[in-house]
Amino acid sequence: KGSTLVLGIETSCDETSAAVVENGEILRSNVISSQMEVHRKFGGVVPEVASRRHVERITDVIQQALDQAGVKQSELSALAVTQGPGLVGALLIGVAAAKAMAFAAGLPLVGVHHIAGHIYASHLVKPLRFPLVALVVSGGHTELIYMPGHNRFERLGKTRDDAAGEAFDKVARVLELPYPGGPEIDRLAREGRPSIDLPRAWLEPDSLDFSFSGLKSAVINHLHNAKQRGTTVQRADLAASFQESVVEVLTEKSIRAVKSKGVDHLVLAGGVSANSALRSALSERCRKEGIRLSVPPIELCTDNAAMIAAAGTFRYLDREFAGLDMNAEPNLKL
Ligand code: KG4
Ligand code: ZN
Repeated sequence: KGSTLVLGIETSCDETSAAVVENGEILRSNVISSQMEVHRKFGGVVPEVASRRHVERITDVIQQALDQAGVKQSELSALAVTQGPGLVGALLIGVAAAKAMAFAAGLPLVGVHHIAGHIYASHLVKPLRFPLVALVVSGGHTELIYMPGHNRFERLGKTRDDAAGEAFDKVARVLELPYPGGPEIDRLAREGRPSIDLPRAWLEPDSLDFSFSGLKSAVINHLHNAKQRGTTVQRADLAASFQESVVEVLTEKSIRAVKSKGVDHLVLAGGVSANSALRSALSERCRKEGIRLSVPPIELCTDNAAMIAAAGTFRYLDREFAGLDMNAEPNLKL
């Protein structure tokens, strides 16, 4: 036999996903059932609706992941499931499914931190090279993580208020763009120029933390003032200006984190890494600074179970097993 086959399960937000990964790096299958259309009419993810959808889809999605990989349940080495953070009701569905399957099939079980998963998305493309720094930017997170080796995480910075993706989504909403707003702003920004002066939250000189709520308020104020004065707002310019502010802070702090740790590998992860301005700003800076940058393809940037299976493989190899008493942890620490 020899190879390690891990089935991953991810249900932390609005994607029901299951995947099979071999040896932590070979993607055998990655089935993603998105609920985006369901939540779009509410302008955001509705937790109750998400949980119900996960229940309806999970069994099927797991079976498809096994079928597409051509792997039988009995051939699996372990099960890996997102334990947190995320929406508690959504997480519970994945955790319950994983526990039931682990019990029925007598398989080892590991709980995976969602952020660890996002970082390991890169490992499915090209092996991670340690030590490294990862910038994880999604709808729920904005974090800088240092990894000295597999399955070792040290947080260098985090957002103090909104996550980067959340800021994109909220600003999109005030610009009357559909949900999720990130891709919409990305598109609209290309038609505009970053001509509007908006703040950058650098925080304390050495801080690797982030803050985006002030920027969001500045966008809202700009719209409000224009309305009061009866002037028209160039929405594309406002989108471009907002995006530039986010990208500049994310890029600068990532480079600072890389330098402060003396590493030469930066990994970009999470849904916001799909942002075209962020990708080009980071790749240009990294090229200038001689830093190796890993950016996974977009389908691995957003939530998926393959990244959970990959991260879970290294927890499994470190024998960090979970018991059948494992619970979903909406505020799980890395
Ligand atoms: O990782 P992800 O799929 O889910 C979470 O774990 O949150 O990230 C979703 C977030 C959303 O806020 C979405 O607006 C944002 O990623 N996003 C983008 C882009 N594509 C997705 N933000 C900016 N530019 C994009 N192109
Ligand atoms: Zn995510």
